[in-house]
Amino acid sequence: MDNMTKNVGVLTAGGDTPGLNAALRGLGKSAMYKYDLQLIGFYDGFRGLLHDRNILFDDSSLSGILTVGGTILGTSRDKPEKMEVGGKKQDMRDAMVDTYQKHHLDVLVCMGGGGTHKNAYSLMEKGLNIVTIPKTIDNDIYNTDVTLGFDTALGIATEAIDRLHSTAHSHHRIVVVEIMGHNAGWLALGAGVAGGADVILIPEIPYDEEYIAEAILERSRSGKHFSIVAISEGAVSKKDKKREEELLHDKESAKDKDEKKKAKKKLKALYAEQVNRSQNLSQTLENLTGLESRMTILGYVQRGGTPSARDRLLGSMLGGYAADIIADGNYGNMVSVKGQGIQPVPLKSVVNQRKTVPVDHLWIDTARRVGTCLGDGTI
Ligand code: F6P
Repeated sequence: MDNMTKNVGVLTAGGDTPGLNAALRGLGKSAMYKYDLQLIGFYDGFRGLLHDRNILFDDSSLSGILTVGGTILGTSRDKPEKMEVGGKKQDMRDAMVDTYQKHHLDVLVCMGGGGTHKNAYSLMEKGLNIVTIPKTIDNDIYNTDVTLGFDTALGIATEAIDRLHSTAHSHHRIVVVEIMGHNAGWLALGAGVAGGADVILIPEIPYDEEYIAEAILERSRSGKHFSIVAISEGAVSKKDKKREEELLHDKESAKDKDEKKKAKKKLKALYAEQVNRSQNLSQTLENLTGLESRMTILGYVQRGGTPSARDRLLGSMLGGYAADIIADGNYGNMVSVKGQGIQPVPLKSVVNQRKTVPVDHLWIDTARRVGTCLGDGTI
C-alpha cells in the first residue's frame, strides 16, 4: 500500500438509486479513518466536475446519511463527451481534466450505471485515474453479479404487485403493471416471481398477445377471475420485434440516403409507438378476453425512498472496498460483486456491454415451473 495522503474525488451520475449515500459514507469514512485520504465530492454528476461545484467531505457531512434515499451529491445524465453547454453539445472532457488537476486529485470515483461507466472510461482515456461503483435499479451492468439499488427497487415493485392483487381480485380484472429496467428484464422478472404475477413479460423474451390472452382465459376457466401481468418497460411483442429487425435490415441495406432516411423514420415511429406498450397491451387483452383490464406504471416510485438493509450493506461494502483499492493505487477498475465477495474488474471489461437476463436463468425456469406465462408460448 502507498501511504501518501491522496486526494479522492467522487461523483454520482445517471438515475439515482437507493443506497448511494451508504456507498458515499462507506467510501468517505474508510478513506478518512483507515487511510487518511481526503474526499472531495462534485455535485450533479459530471456537470459538477465541469463547473467545479464541490464539497470537501468531513466526518459530519457523512453522518446521518446511511438510511437516506437518493444521493446527497445530486445527479445528472450529462455526458462529458457530448455535454449541452451554451445551447450545443460539446466535448467538455478537457475542462473536467482541468478541475481534476486543480484539486490535485489522485483518482475520481464515479458511482453510476452503464452510461456512467462509459463516461468514466472516456475520462480515463484522457488520462484520469478512475474507480467506479456499479449502481442502477436495472441490475444490467456487465461483470458484476448485482448492482446497488436493485434490491430496494425489487422490494418496492414486489410490494406493488402484492397490492395490485387485492384490487384485481376484487374487481375480477386484468391488471397490467409496468416495471422499470430499461432494456433488461431483471426487475420485472424478479418482482414478478416474488409477487406471484400470472404473466411476466421481459425484453429478452418477445411476447405474443394472443397467447397471453389464452393463458388468462385458462385461468378464468379454472375459477381464477383476475390476472396480474408484470411487463418490463423494455418488453416487446414478437410482431414488433420482427418489424424492428426488418427495418434495421432495410436501414443497413439501403441503396441510397433517401431509402436509409425512410427506414430510420419508420424505426423512430415504431419506437415511439412502443412507449405505450403497456396501455396498448391492456387494451388488446381486454379485447381478446372480454375481461376488464387496467394498466398502472410504477415509474419513479421504484427509485425513491429509503434503501433496503441489503442495499445499505452493499453500498457500505462497495464504498469501503473502493477506498482499499484506491489506497493500493489499483485504478481503472470497477468494484464488482462476485458471489459472496467483492473484487476489482477492469473498467474496460464493463463498458459497451449490458447484462441482460439469460433465457436459461434460474428465475425464468422458476417462473415456468409455477405455471407463470412468459408470453412466448412455452409454458
Ligand atoms: O436506469 C435507471 C432507470 O430508472 C431505468 O429503469 C429507466 O428506464 C430510466 O432510468 C429512466 O430514466 P430518467 O430518470 O432519465 O427518466
